[in-house]
Amino acid sequence: MKKKIVVFTGAGISAESGIQTFRDANGLWEGHHVEDVASIDGWNKNPSLVQNFYNMRRQIALNAEPNAAHCALVTLEKVFDVHIITQNVDLLHERSGSSHVLHLHGRLDLACSSLDKRLIYPVVGHEIKMGDCCEKGSQLRPNIVWFGESVPNMEPAIQLSEQADIMIVTGTSLTVYPAASLVEVIVPTCDLYVIDKHINLARIPKKSITMEGTASEMVPKLVNQLIAHNTIL
Ligand code: APR
Repeated sequence: MKKKIVVFTGAGISAESGIQTFRDANGLWEGHHVEDVASIDGWNKNPSLVQNFYNMRRQIALNAEPNAAHCALVTLEKVFDVHIITQNVDLLHERSGSSHVLHLHGRLDLACSSLDKRLIYPVVGHEIKMGDCCEKGSQLRPNIVWFGESVPNMEPAIQLSEQADIMIVTGTSLTVYPAASLVEVIVPTCDLYVIDKHINLARIPKKSITMEGTASEMVPKLVNQLIAHNTIL
């Protein structure tokens, strides 16, 4: 049976595809405070601002291409049972060809009803317009998990993490909960690799094997190592 590898990714894996991370630019994200554009309060206060912000992000994501880190994770599937749990909404894992991707914080290609998040619709092109409504007549919004909202995919993410033989964490500051708690649910025998441009030892479990560097450099390196090692065994 193939070993199970769970890869937990954040904004840093898409940085080299030209998609800005959340916490690298003085707390501002494309010029906005995260809480103004990524919270349910922000939406209630100024839905047009939030809608436009996500329309812009959708356009950036549609024009971006997966990088070497996304692609290496596809190669990993040749040898391992690979499951990606991502906080990213950009769909670059799917576009690079990964088979199993679980989204914790939603996805940009879907809209949902602002009345009932279970009513979900594909977004055609890059825009959801103010005035676009669900079948019950309520405004459509991005299908994103904002601050102040529950994370419906947390339960399956915990289950996958508990089953991991190897976990790779890359491109996340591990500051946002509950997502960040996934590194705490792995079993003692699970090898934990952390790849980040700036490793923050205070945020990661002591047993972590750290690889400091960019995702596009370090993820392919680790993938090659894991495949070579597994082939020898
Ligand atoms: N390669 C590897 N790591 C990188 C790179 C890179 N090229 N560039 C940046 N990083 C690292 C940073 O050092 C940081 O640790 O990526 C991490 C990005 O952290 P955040 O910006 O906090 O992104 P993330 O952890 O994904 O944020 C979590 O916060 O606002 C919410 O819902 C949003 O999903 C998001 C969540």
